[in-house]
Amino acid sequence: MSITFDNASAARAAAGAAALLPDVPPGFVWGSATAAYQIEGGAGEDGRGESIWDVFCRRPGAIADGTSGAVACDSYHRWRDDVELLAGLGVDAYRFSVAWPRVLPAGRGAVNQAGLDYYDRLVDALCERGIRPFVTLYHWDLPQALEDGGGWRARDTADRFAEYAGLVAGVLQDRVQDWITLNEPYCSSIVGYAEGRHAPGATEGHGALAAAHHLLLGHGRAAAAIRAAAGARARVGITLNFSPVVAASDTDADRAAAQRLDAVLNRQFADPLLDGTYPEGFERLYAGVSDLSFRRDGDLEIIAAPLDFLGVNYYYRLHAVNAPLAQPDPARRSAADIGVRTVPPPGVATTDLGWPIEPQGLFDTLTGLAARYPGLPPVYITENGCAELRETPEPDPERMVFIAAHLAAAARAAAADDRLELLGYFYWSLLDNFEWARGYGPRFGLAHVDYATGERTPKASYHWLRERLRAHRERP
Ligand code: NOJ
Repeated sequence: MSITFDNASAARAAAGAAALLPDVPPGFVWGSATAAYQIEGGAGEDGRGESIWDVFCRRPGAIADGTSGAVACDSYHRWRDDVELLAGLGVDAYRFSVAWPRVLPAGRGAVNQAGLDYYDRLVDALCERGIRPFVTLYHWDLPQALEDGGGWRARDTADRFAEYAGLVAGVLQDRVQDWITLNEPYCSSIVGYAEGRHAPGATEGHGALAAAHHLLLGHGRAAAAIRAAAGARARVGITLNFSPVVAASDTDADRAAAQRLDAVLNRQFADPLLDGTYPEGFERLYAGVSDLSFRRDGDLEIIAAPLDFLGVNYYYRLHAVNAPLAQPDPARRSAADIGVRTVPPPGVATTDLGWPIEPQGLFDTLTGLAARYPGLPPVYITENGCAELRETPEPDPERMVFIAAHLAAAARAAAADDRLELLGYFYWSLLDNFEWARGYGPRFGLAHVDYATGERTPKASYHWLRERLRAHRERP
């Protein structure tokens, strides 16, 4: 990682930065996270249908190293190894996702029992080891058959998602209490349908905004379906990615740019869910791009149904600069083009992906949520992590520093504002895995994966976290 200090001082910093984990309330959940397409492999096995990612990965140039998730970490076969890694680490919980096309190969209709059985076995194994499953129902792998019918542009997909969510909840409800409907709908809509960097690889205006709305509607309908299938003990939440946006300079133009980016990236999703509204000025921002005619009366009530928790994914803060529109003709603009460019903050260390390391952004995200949304539900940090590009498993002291610094910022936020109820922290990720359009280069794992053999090797950060968790539990 291109952190500004060398490894020796990083190691010292890691050793000293957090001899103990910060004080957290009893019952705080320590966990780690993965997602189906990034780890499972087994793409053609046991009746799994195709997802938009299988198809997108075949598009020349779509994935940096030309790979796909067809084999990935082979967790479809090696899931027992994953459970052992979690048990060895001593976490309370594991956040993983169910692959929709493994369960419903055509996205609707006939159920693939073998696919359901896979998750059934995994959940059993987790429960046997005392690890609480947090199940994400949609981590970006839409069945291709549904994409062929319009994908998330189509309102019908929201209903299909609710059916699928109800089906999975019905099967796992006796052992799973915690449900996350969607992971990062910003990425599924804007990155997938406007920027074209993710599946399905579209660059649209109206279609991408419709996708964002239908994802939110799908969340609301799925939440109701889960509650109907799983009863009163179900706890239902959603995971959003948050990047606080600051203006790169003190000019009015950059401040306005920061607000536009905040509206599209953060508030397009958080406001409807937590406030039952769309951000003010959203219609103006997209005048000529979309008439937003996909919104219907009553949708916001469905979307804003009370949540049991909010999942927060935090990686970095963004620094916004006003920029000319790439495509001034509104009718041809993609929803990603809002006249904003982001720049690296000067003098801030970055991970190997060039992502600035700013734990203050996590503090600002958490306290900002508590301030903006009265009645904010309890919060889990459902992802936070850093990647290195080197291929060898050790040493990774930078990861320890990264985790310690972000945990400290989160604990500081919880102490600063008693409207914020912080319930847990999940490190992304348990394993090195398929990092979407970036392929297998970036490694986020606490455990190294040898992609040729599938072998998992715990990194130094895994041992470090295990010791911290043990010491934390033994505290008087
Ligand atoms: C967020 C996504 O949910 C996850 O799939 C991804 O690997 C991490 N960010 C890191 O980019």
